Amino acid sequence: MAAMQPMQLFAANSEPTVIILLGPPGSGKGTQAVELSKAFGIPQISTGDLFRENIKNETPLGKEAKSYLDKGALVPDELVLDLLFDRTQKPDCAKGYLLDGFPRTTAQAHELEDSLRGKVHFIVFNLKVPDSEVIRRLSGRLVCKQCNRVYHKDTTPPKVPGICDNCGSTLYQRSDDTEAVITERLRVYYEQTKPVETFYKNQNILIEIDATKPANEVLEELKAACKK
Ligand code: AP5
Repeated sequence: MAAMQPMQLFAANSEPTVIILLGPPGSGKGTQAVELSKAFGIPQISTGDLFRENIKNETPLGKEAKSYLDKGALVPDELVLDLLFDRTQKPDCAKGYLLDGFPRTTAQAHELEDSLRGKVHFIVFNLKVPDSEVIRRLSGRLVCKQCNRVYHKDTTPPKVPGICDNCGSTLYQRSDDTEAVITERLRVYYEQTKPVETFYKNQNILIEIDATKPANEVLEELKAACKK
């Protein structure tokens, strides 16, 4: 049997498509990014995952980024931008890619815009969830050490406790998913990332999504909006 082909993003559109997922911590950006990436055959680029990978490998960048992640602060723009643009130059990004956790400041949004204006088609989603749901989701989140698949200990637990259904590796709780750090991440989100919504709203390209719905329903809405 032939392998299933990924769905086409904007069939008539020959420019690469860049999908941006905005939203507070815990709004489901990573959960949805994995599925959209599979559905459309474009890579998911999570700046948070890239930093965690560097921290795990104890690279100089990882050593610098760790202190920021541990306290829930944003990593300085210059470090993020180098990391991001280095990743988007890779050949698998030629047809487009999905950004999960970037841009997170208006300076990052401007840099992205300046480097890609006229060369790509942007689709920008804002995943909306209240703070109480963010805290509930993040305090129960489990992540696979190997493939980064995300679970929730109560609502989407793995079949075998502590083991990833997808690759069989161990699950862990992120060090920034403690109550104190989640509170700080939310504060930083309102102060530094909320204005990014206005940046895209002013261009009339921000698509608001109610991300309190079950993950499969959110996914269907996102896919439908990508094909419009
Ligand atoms: P990052 O890794 O990007 O974290 P985040 O934005 O805080 O987002 P999360 O990964 O916590 O949540 P998510 O929205 O992906 O939700 P998820 O799908 O996992 O960044 C970490 C740090 O890196 C930052 O604090 C910063 O220091 C640094 N950083 C990263 N990018 C940066 C940048 N651009 N500039 C500067 N610094 C940067 O879901 C959460 C939970 O909810 C899971 O348990 C999941 O199962 C559950 N869930 C998901 N969807 C649903 C649903 N619909 N219903 C019920 N439960 C759901």
